[in-house]
Amino acid sequence: MFHSRRKFIKSTLKVTAGSAIAGSILSPLIVNGKSLLPNEKINIALVGCKSMGFYDLENALKIPGVVCVALCDVDENILGEKCAEVEKLQGIAPIKYKDYQKLMDNKDIHAVIIGTPDHWHCLPFIAACEAGKDIYVEKPLANSIAECELMEAATHKYNRVVQVGQQQRSGAHFKQAIEFIKAGKIGVLRKVNIWANFSYGIGRPKVADSPVPAGVDFNKWLGPAPLRSFNASRFHGSWRMFWDYGGGLMTDWGVHLIDMALWAKDITVMPDIITAAGGNFCCPSFAHETFDTMNTSFQFKDYLINWEHTAGSEVGPYGRNYGLAFVGTDATLVIDRDGWELFPEWDNDSKKHKVPIIEKQVGVGSHDIHMANFIDCIKSRNTPACSIENGSLVAKYAHAANIALRTKSQLIWNNTKHNFGNNSAANAFITPVYRKPWVLPVIS
Ligand SMILES: NC(=O)c1ccc[n+]([C@@H]2O[C@H](COP(=O)([O-])OP(=O)(O)OC[C@H]3O[C@@H](n4cnc5c(N)ncnc54)[C@H](O)[C@@H]3O)[C@@H](O)[C@H]2O)c1
Repeated sequence: MFHSRRKFIKSTLKVTAGSAIAGSILSPLIVNGKSLLPNEKINIALVGCKSMGFYDLENALKIPGVVCVALCDVDENILGEKCAEVEKLQGIAPIKYKDYQKLMDNKDIHAVIIGTPDHWHCLPFIAACEAGKDIYVEKPLANSIAECELMEAATHKYNRVVQVGQQQRSGAHFKQAIEFIKAGKIGVLRKVNIWANFSYGIGRPKVADSPVPAGVDFNKWLGPAPLRSFNASRFHGSWRMFWDYGGGLMTDWGVHLIDMALWAKDITVMPDIITAAGGNFCCPSFAHETFDTMNTSFQFKDYLINWEHTAGSEVGPYGRNYGLAFVGTDATLVIDRDGWELFPEWDNDSKKHKVPIIEKQVGVGSHDIHMANFIDCIKSRNTPACSIENGSLVAKYAHAANIALRTKSQLIWNNTKHNFGNNSAANAFITPVYRKPWVLPVIS
C-alpha cells in the first residue's frame, strides 16, 4: 500500500509539474468553470507542523491525488523531523519554509493546512486567502473576536473554500444525533449541558525562563503576541493556557462542543446574554493563566446552553469527562466522540417511557472524514462541513465567555456595532494589539 502510493505520487508529480493547474491563482482547481476530475492532483502545504497540523496532513495524504509539496515551521527541529516523515510517506521531500509568507508565494500550492497555535491562525489564513489558496484551519478559528470576523470577511472577499477543524461536523454519529433531535425525538429541546474536564487544562509544572532552544525562532513563534523571554511551560502544546496564545479549555474544547449545541438549533447569531463564573482555584504549581474552573451560560429567548469545565480533573456527568446532554421534554440525549445514548423521561400516566429506549449508538473518529470533505470541496467548490461561519460564530461564543469572566460582567453582544455595547472593559478584549512589525490586516 505504501509503495503503490509512493509510485502514484511520483507519477502524478511528473505529469502535472509546471502544468496549467498551478497557473490560475484565484480558483486554481477550476478549469473552464468546471472542477477537475475527482482524482486530479492537489498540492497541499502545512504551516505549523508539530502535532495537530501534522495529523491533519497525514489524513490528507491518505486521499488519492493529494501531495504535500511544502512544510513551514519556526522550529527547525520540527521542520526537519516532519519533512523526513513526509518523504517517508510519499517518497518525495516537501520544500521547507521558515516563513509562511514565502510559502504563500509558491504558486504550485493549491491548499494549506494551518496548524499553528491559535494566536498564529489569522495572519497565515488571510495571506492564504490573498494568495488564492484554499484552507483547512484548525480550531478555534482565531484567538480573538475581531480576528474571527476578519477571517470570515477574507474568505468571502477572496472566495476561498475553508474547512474549520471542528471535525464533529463530519462525524456520522454526531450528524445522526443532531437529526434525531431536530426530528423532535427528544421532545422540545430547551437546554444543553456541556462539560469538559481535562487534566491538561492546568498546564505544565511551572519552570523558570530559560534560553531559547537551538533551532527555534522564538521571535517568530511569538509573532504578533507580546515580546517575552522563553519559558518551556508556555511553548509547544501548553501555550493554550496563556491568554496571549489561546483561551484555555473554554476555547480549546468549547468550540468543538458548543458548536454541536448551535447546530441542533441551526443558530447563526450570538446569544442574547452571556454570563460566566469561576476562576483559578487549583494547582498553583502549574503554569496557567486561563481559567481552571469555569461555568458559562449562553441565554436565548427559549434555549439555554450551559458550559462547565474543571481543568486538572477527569471525572464528569454520565461517566464521561466531556460531553453534551441535550435536555428535551421527553428525553435527554448524551453524546461524546465515542457515541450517544438516550435517557427517556418517565410518563406517570401511561406508566411507560415517553419515548422508546434505544440501544447506545457507537461513534467513530471523524478527523479523516472531515479532511476528505475538505478535499472534495476544493474540487466541487461546495461549502465544507464546518464552514467559516460555523467556526467563527462558535469561537466568538467561547471568547465572549472568557471575556465575561475576565471582566466579571454579564455581556450582551451588539451585532450592529460588533461590540459589547457600553462595556468598555469587555470591548477592550475584542481586538488584539499586534506587536510590530506584525499588523492586523484590514479587509475592505
Ligand atoms: N481539531 C482538533 O481536535 C485539535 C486537536 C488539537 C489541537 N488542535 C488545534 O491545532 C492547532 C495547533 O495545536 P497543536 O497542539 O498542534 O500545537 P503545537 O504547539 O503542538 O504545534 C504548533 C506548531 O506550530 C509551529 N508554529 C508556531 N508559530 C508558527 C509560525 N509563525 N509559522 C509556522 N509554524 C509556527 C510551532 O513551532 C509548532 O510546531 C491549535 O489551533 C489547536 O487548537 C485541534
